[in-house]
Amino acid sequence: MIQYSIEPMQERHLPQVAAIERASFGRGDKSRSYEIWSEQSYRDEVAKDNSVCLVALSGDQVIGYCSMYTCVDEGHITKVAVEENYRGQGIAGRLMDRMFEMGADMGLQFYELEVRRSNDAAIGLYTGRGFQLAGIRKKYYTDNGEDAMIYTRQDSFEAK
Ligand SMILES: CC(C)(COP(=O)(O)OP(=O)(O)OC[C@H]1O[C@@H](n2cnc3c(N)ncnc32)[C@H](O)[C@@H]1OP(=O)(O)O)[C@@H](O)C(=O)NCCC(=O)NCCS
Repeated sequence: MIQYSIEPMQERHLPQVAAIERASFGRGDKSRSYEIWSEQSYRDEVAKDNSVCLVALSGDQVIGYCSMYTCVDEGHITKVAVEENYRGQGIAGRLMDRMFEMGADMGLQFYELEVRRSNDAAIGLYTGRGFQLAGIRKKYYTDNGEDAMIYTRQDSFEAK
C-alpha cells in the first residue's frame, strides 16, 4: 500500500502536475490539446482566491491532483487526475473527499462537473460520491463529437 498525503498545490509541484496533465488528457492527440492545462494555467489557478487545488504527494513525487473553483455556495470541479501507475488505489477518491471536506468548511452546498460520456473511471468516481446525472451537452467535445455528461451533487438544501 503506497503512503501519501494530500496537500495544497504549490509552485514546486507544478512541473509534475503539468506532466500528469499532459499524459492524462489528450494522450498525444493534438485535437484534444485544448483540454490540457499548462503549468502556467495551474499557477494562475493556485493564485486565485476562489480556487481549491490539491495534490497527492508520495515523498516529493506528485501522484495525483484535483482542482475546483467556487462561486458563493457552489463548487465547480475542473480537474482530477492520477498518474497512470498509481490508478485504482483510491487516490482520486481521497483527493475528492478532502476537497469536499474543505468545501463543507467553506459552506459549499452544490457541486458540478462535466465528464466525457466514455470516461467510465471518472463517472464511477463521481457517482460513488453522490453525483447524479443532471444533463447532457450533446457533441460538446470537438475532437470526436463526444457528449459531455453534467453531474451535480447537492449537499444540503433549505427551502425558503
Ligand atoms: C478518473 C481517475 C482520476 C480515477 O483515479 P483513481 O485514483 O484510479 O480512482 P480511485 O482508485 O480513487 O477510484 C475511485 C472510484 O472510481 C471507481 N473507478 C475507478 N476506475 C474505474 C473504472 N475503470 N471503471 C469504473 N469505475 C472505476 C472506483 O470503483 C472507485 O470507487 P470507490 O471510491 O467507490 O471505491 C483516473 O482514472 C485518471 O486520472 N484518469 C485520467 C484523467 C481523467 O479522465 N480525469 C477525469 C476527467 S473528468
